[in-house]
Amino acid sequence: MFLININVEKVELNPYWQQKKLRDYCKANGVTVAAYSPLGAAGTMWGSSRVMESEVLNEIARAKGKSVAQVCLRWEYEQDIAIVVKSYNKERMKQNLEIFDWALSEEESKKISEIPQNRGVTGEEFTSATGPYKTLEELWDGEL
Ligand SMILES: NC(=O)c1ccc[n+]([C@@H]2O[C@H](COP(=O)([O-])OP(=O)(O)OC[C@H]3O[C@@H](n4cnc5c(N)ncnc54)[C@H](OP(=O)(O)O)[C@@H]3O)[C@@H](O)[C@H]2O)c1
Repeated sequence: MFLININVEKVELNPYWQQKKLRDYCKANGVTVAAYSPLGAAGTMWGSSRVMESEVLNEIARAKGKSVAQVCLRWEYEQDIAIVVKSYNKERMKQNLEIFDWALSEEESKKISEIPQNRGVTGEEFTSATGPYKTLEELWDGEL
């Protein structure tokens, strides 16, 4: 009998909140990172349109004849991130799966990795006077 132990860290992650430090830590410790809101969850209470309206992603998408969503998902796939993308639309579901037979160039990938970062959440709900993290300074490690 085989016992398979898969460690997965599920976080909100996309080109605007890349969390490189966390990804490097997970990689070094055999943990797979799974990205919630990989397209930035536009239109939800917790998301924004910054990913889909990104100038960098739109420019690469135009040059490659792909959609912004495909460029975004392909970048995440190339970073070894497991993707939890959501769509209720059949065509977009299909489009989101068509990312495996092409690649981003080194330059395109570099441009995405250089996008200025912003945390997707403030983290206030994880702080408490009686908990392990009493302030936001204690909660975050400094990386945006
Ligand atoms: N447990 C947690 O803490 C947590 C937190 C965040 C998210 N999640 C889960 O993670 C999953 C994905 O996250 P999410 O829904 O927040 O964000 P997301 O997958 O980044 O974005 C979903 C949005 O993108 C649109 N979309 C999908 N494919 C598209 C495409 N090819 N082109 C244009 N628009 C596209 C969807 O619209 P259409 O449906 O109209 O296509 C929807 O508005 C969900 O199942 C969510 O419940 C869990």
